[in-house]
Amino acid sequence: MRGIMEQARQKRIVLGITGGIAAYKAAELARLLVKQGFTVQVAMTEAATHFITPATMRALTGQPVLVDQWQDDKGMAHIHSSRVADAIVIAPATADFIAKLSNGLADDLLSTLCLARDCPLLVAPAMNRQMWSNAATQRNMQRLLSDGVTLFGPVSGVQACGEEGMGRMLEAEELARDIVASLNAPSPTLTLPHRERELGTQALRGVRVLLTAGPTYEAIDAVRGITNRSSGKMGYAVAQAAQELGAEVTLVSGPTALPHPQGVQVQDVTSAAEMFEAVKSRVAAADMFIAVAAVADYRVAQPSEQKIKKSDAKLTLELIPNTDILAHVAALPDAPFCVGFAAESENLRGYAEQKRRAKKLPLLAANLAQNAIGADDNELILFDDAGEHRLPRADKLTLARALLLHATKLYQKGRSK
Ligand code: CTP
Repeated sequence: MRGIMEQARQKRIVLGITGGIAAYKAAELARLLVKQGFTVQVAMTEAATHFITPATMRALTGQPVLVDQWQDDKGMAHIHSSRVADAIVIAPATADFIAKLSNGLADDLLSTLCLARDCPLLVAPAMNRQMWSNAATQRNMQRLLSDGVTLFGPVSGVQACGEEGMGRMLEAEELARDIVASLNAPSPTLTLPHRERELGTQALRGVRVLLTAGPTYEAIDAVRGITNRSSGKMGYAVAQAAQELGAEVTLVSGPTALPHPQGVQVQDVTSAAEMFEAVKSRVAAADMFIAVAAVADYRVAQPSEQKIKKSDAKLTLELIPNTDILAHVAALPDAPFCVGFAAESENLRGYAEQKRRAKKLPLLAANLAQNAIGADDNELILFDDAGEHRLPRADKLTLARALLLHATKLYQKGRSK
């Protein structure tokens, strides 16, 4: 207990309040954060002061409230406040403020402070359901997510306008809990929302995604074979993340011990040749192909139908190359948008870029094999035409969601050309 209090006492949160009716919840949020030992510095937009007064926030936090960027004596309030903050929390974040954030605008004190920050930005949207589902808002949200901003909510429920739907801000207790959890997460972490499923971002609705996952098993004889240590966890997480974004997902899976992800069509296969056949028969109906499987590069030339009996003689297995499924798909005349994976044990950047170019892929996710195999978490570097993007260590589902958001952006850009 002492540890948590002491840790919290040292931390300083800038609580940004923008102009929406949910601003009243910010008072309770400030009270809860102060109670947990945080120093809370409130910064409000002018619009927010019409919903809740700076006097209320000052009384609850014991700190002067920042509103007007021109009122600061030193003229550098935005730089100073963002430098000393451990996090900036925007609650509530209106659709207008989210649009500003996603475009990097800085035309008032709070937006300037966000742009000048050197700390995590946590955003709790609150708006009418129609504004939330508007394509512009969804586009802005996605951009914030891929910029590494953490989202809390919104949730579905009765709204201030009397309508019911997605867009309600989380309650103060939930927000306080999520903020503390986020600040206590080991660093660096990939800060993605806890509630993507409730986000309603259906960016891949109607898009058909074909995936490979898991290891393959290349028979030597009736009971023995060559395989690898891939667990399939990453591929299954990517399938789930695609399904959450509204895609129609088909997963061609090598042998794993994992349950089939919900809402995903799964075809189980064993060998690389079977995986290749399954992909070939489905690829014409795919808009995106994501090759996560650790496909065996070689198979036994003549597997024995019967169990090979031991003898004192030397035994040599002849191995012949398997077709590279991803390279085959990427070279098709009407190829889907292709995403590859690379697991390397050394020279990650060099080999990954080489692989991406050789297979002509718009996007490749690379990791160090020794960090990833069988583990529940991982870290990835994404390589695309714009360069590299690091996704810091996180659980595989969080990484899969971030990867999918990045892939979706590139996919949509490609289609709009
Ligand atoms: N891949 C594939 N079919 C294969 C081999 C690989 O579809 N027969 C795909 C994997 O699913 C992954 C990517 O190609 O998306 C990279 O696979 P990897 O095994 O890391 O690289 P290779 O190209 O096989 O090269 P190497 O084994 O020499 O590193």
